[in-house]
Amino acid sequence: MDEIRIGLVGLGGRGLSWLRLLHAVPGFRVTALCDPIAALHEPALVALKERVPAYTRYEDVLADPQVEAVALCVRCKEQGALAAQALDAGKHVNSEVPAAHTLEDCWRIALAAERSGKVYSLGEQTRYWGFVEAWQQLVAEGKLGRVTFVEGQYIGYYGTRQFFQDPTSGAFASVEDLPARPGAKPTWLHTMPPIHYLPHELSPLLKVLDDRVVEVTAMSTGAPSYAHPEIGQPDIQVALMKTEKDALLRLATGFTQPVPHARGHHWYQVLGTKGCVEWKRAGRGRPLLWTVDSQMHDLAEVDWHYERTDAPHGATGSGHGDADYYVHAAFRDAVLGVRPLEFDVYRALDTAVPAILAADSIAQGTQLLKAPDFRPNAQRAVGQLPNEVA
Ligand SMILES: NC(=O)c1ccc[n+]([C@@H]2O[C@H](COP(=O)([O-])OP(=O)(O)OC[C@H]3O[C@@H](n4cnc5c(N)ncnc54)[C@H](O)[C@@H]3O)[C@@H](O)[C@H]2O)c1
Repeated sequence: MDEIRIGLVGLGGRGLSWLRLLHAVPGFRVTALCDPIAALHEPALVALKERVPAYTRYEDVLADPQVEAVALCVRCKEQGALAAQALDAGKHVNSEVPAAHTLEDCWRIALAAERSGKVYSLGEQTRYWGFVEAWQQLVAEGKLGRVTFVEGQYIGYYGTRQFFQDPTSGAFASVEDLPARPGAKPTWLHTMPPIHYLPHELSPLLKVLDDRVVEVTAMSTGAPSYAHPEIGQPDIQVALMKTEKDALLRLATGFTQPVPHARGHHWYQVLGTKGCVEWKRAGRGRPLLWTVDSQMHDLAEVDWHYERTDAPHGATGSGHGDADYYVHAAFRDAVLGVRPLEFDVYRALDTAVPAILAADSIAQGTQLLKAPDFRPNAQRAVGQLPNEVA
């Protein structure tokens, strides 16, 4: 099989997971590493088991002729701009979520992908989960009727470690660690609106609905966090969205208040005019299904899992209910010309734009905002901004 020479950018926890996956999924050779924190280079080089250039400057990876694709595992406000910069430099991009944190960067990605002809892939993996596939089929076959109401939430809690980091050593520190770690500084997550982190809700749900968001409004609890006043993020942000097919979405995020880990951090439900499906509420719970015309008096438990029943060998154990495998296989196949991405650049931006607008709505006192469609159309030629944005 042909190998894609890929540079891994961002050597935090997720970057190291991707390093493992880029070894395990056939078709990749890691030819460069990059992180501005030089102390993180050596652990990645050790995991890689071969010497490749390790850069502190992003521009140097983009200038490296041995790099034809960039795996972007950064966590910063400029995430979208960095993806667009790589496309402009003639590199394919596989980016971690979220795609971007500003509307301007979403346009940059769309235009750079169109102008360069390179592959832009968003590594959102939950859309490959087994139950998402099953729900997509139920909706496509009309078993739930017309979908009217959808909920998704990511209320996750990983302690407070990701909110403070020593910029020299790269070591993270929790709130409790701070007195002993005076070098630890607040990370970007203090200022990142939590509602920006909706890819794991919008990606699977819009896939199930085969739809896109057209209107957004949102509210937030106050900042800083009530659970941890040392953290600048508010505890909960909730968005209401309307889709092109006239479904209403309620989406919520929060990462600062404790929740039971056994339940899992994501929860979803889809209601239609003829039935509904719901993800499990507790660790010991089960997903539920009810349809109007099947003599059911109550919701029935269904044995849906994250894991797929048709998972190929390489997917098992890859991470996040086996889903991590699929984003690398899909990216590889698109770069090698085997098959185009189903989750293309426009669908990827459909997961980022409503989240960015939700935070904008909060900043503007819960304004109702319209979500642009990034696909070229009569008002916008390929590679050009629409007139109202230009
Ligand atoms: N899909 C998933 O399930 C999943 C899970 C965890 C994290 N993520 C995403 O993965 C990304 C990384 O997460 P993480 O937990 O490893 O974060 P992290 O903060 O531990 O690591 C990010 C690294 O990026 C580096 N970085 C920041 N700006 C950079 C720049 N301009 N150029 C090069 N490197 C830069 C930082 O120095 C840091 O070492 C985030 O975007 C996060 O949202 C996704």
